[in-house]
Amino acid sequence: MKGIIAAGGEGTRLAPLTTATNKHLLSVYDKPVIYYGIHTLVEAGIDEILIVTNPHHINDYVKLLGSGKDFISINTGHQIQIVYAIQNEPLGIGHNLAMARGFIGNDSCLFHLGDNIFMDNIKPYVDTFNGGARVFLKEVQDPERFGVAEINESGKILSIEEKPKKPKTNYAVTGLYMYDNSVVQKTIGQHKSDRGEYEITSINNLYVKEGTLEGVFLEKEWFDTGTFDSLLDASIFIRNLKNSKDKK
Ligand code: G1P
Repeated sequence: MKGIIAAGGEGTRLAPLTTATNKHLLSVYDKPVIYYGIHTLVEAGIDEILIVTNPHHINDYVKLLGSGKDFISINTGHQIQIVYAIQNEPLGIGHNLAMARGFIGNDSCLFHLGDNIFMDNIKPYVDTFNGGARVFLKEVQDPERFGVAEINESGKILSIEEKPKKPKTNYAVTGLYMYDNSVVQKTIGQHKSDRGEYEITSINNLYVKEGTLEGVFLEKEWFDTGTFDSLLDASIFIRNLKNSKDKK
């Protein structure tokens, strides 16, 4: 399985923090946000990661991450491989994923929105993946900020709505998506949403139509660092986690 991290976008909700840099390069306690995403993929057993960013920030990513020498594969004991793609315009997450078609090739993929931080180990879900797609859900108080899923008892997703005004449930679809190879085809011929973007929710809904989208609930903490509060909450959480580990 290949790993893809979406690190384009303008992060306007975090201005002026994002006026001079990319939101995935901001700090969460002692590391840039994107480190946490890379860690999640590496811990899941992924050795090849494509970072899709924009022309303004690609040099910063290459300077920070290079070819991935700071991240060690759990499979080989050697460094993972990080490669890069450029998204020329901020046309949305669905477009970001479309940039990865060549990289995905004949493989499946784990697509991570670089500004999300997950405490769960995703490896068991990678190991048991057998086609279709999987999304990771979390119950939240403010579902209207997210993609929102309706789900039946067996975990099958019945619908996903992107930032609905009247959410049907409190189940947010977090920024981590596991796709079989049919996603390559599904990224072709996307339509823009009302806000002028290619939405990841539209791609997920193609799997819903096929009846092959499974939702799994995350057990541990999850942060979407797209707001000042969640960025701060994530920093405090990581600091407390580190301090409690240091004391042991
Ligand atoms: C994106 C997705 C949304 C998802 C969220 C998770 O929204 O469009 O479905 O719930 O990420 O962080 P964004 O934060 O880019 O507005």
